[in-house]
Amino acid sequence: MSGNLHRFIKNCSTRSTYWKHTCLTKLTPNTTANQVQRRFAATDPTKGKGPISWRSLALIGGAGAIGLGFMLYVKKEKEEAIMRERKRQLGKAAIGGHWELVDSAGAVRKSEDFLGKWLLIYFGFTHCPDICPDELEKMAAVVDAIEKSPQTPEIQPIFITVDPERDTKEIVGKYVKEFSPKLLGLTGTVEQIRNVCKAFRVYFSAGPRDVDNDYIVDHTIIMYLVNPDGEFVDYYGQNRDKDQCISSILVNITKWNNLNKKWFG
Ligand code: NI
Repeated sequence: MSGNLHRFIKNCSTRSTYWKHTCLTKLTPNTTANQVQRRFAATDPTKGKGPISWRSLALIGGAGAIGLGFMLYVKKEKEEAIMRERKRQLGKAAIGGHWELVDSAGAVRKSEDFLGKWLLIYFGFTHCPDICPDELEKMAAVVDAIEKSPQTPEIQPIFITVDPERDTKEIVGKYVKEFSPKLLGLTGTVEQIRNVCKAFRVYFSAGPRDVDNDYIVDHTIIMYLVNPDGEFVDYYGQNRDKDQCISSILVNITKWNNLNKKWFG
């Protein structure tokens, strides 16, 4: 920038309303009006005092960090509120709850005994020709796959019969061993089975008997996931394959862990 132009800008800045027509005459012939305007704008007092200082940058940066921190905090609070709400709604669904049954050794097993453990519960009957064996095989494979990872907690698979008349504790005990040594088989009185089925909204209805007094029990084909608080969390129908069940269970375990982290440190 020439000395002339410097002076010109200085002069103009004090009487900027006249600069266009008063000052342009003092410029060298090859200085265009646009150039003058550009140079003038860089030092125009009406457009602030030059470039942004480090101090204001630091202030903006600091304010930005506080703002971002606050936004993250709000986001986290919101996510936790959503999880609490989901938990409340699942509680409202009122699936599951208290039950009391008998294991293969004849011991009474109650829902409260399993608090602190993840459960995968399947309802069926030992005479089932195909679906129950397939589902129990799937359940055993799902539990094995999840327990392979050291980070994931233990899952207790449970089979509950919907055919208490034929499925004695001995028959159920022998049956579950065919699928997994971990699988716990439970039976009970007609009343106890009716109660647990009602709690989990499991439908079951014995069909007509044939000449050998054999019959099929029509029943809901669902695996129920229960969390360590004894609450129903999710369910898996026949259409869900092994991998889908595994990934959903892992998501539910992670969610539960996140929700309970603050209470357990
Ligand atoms: Ni079945």
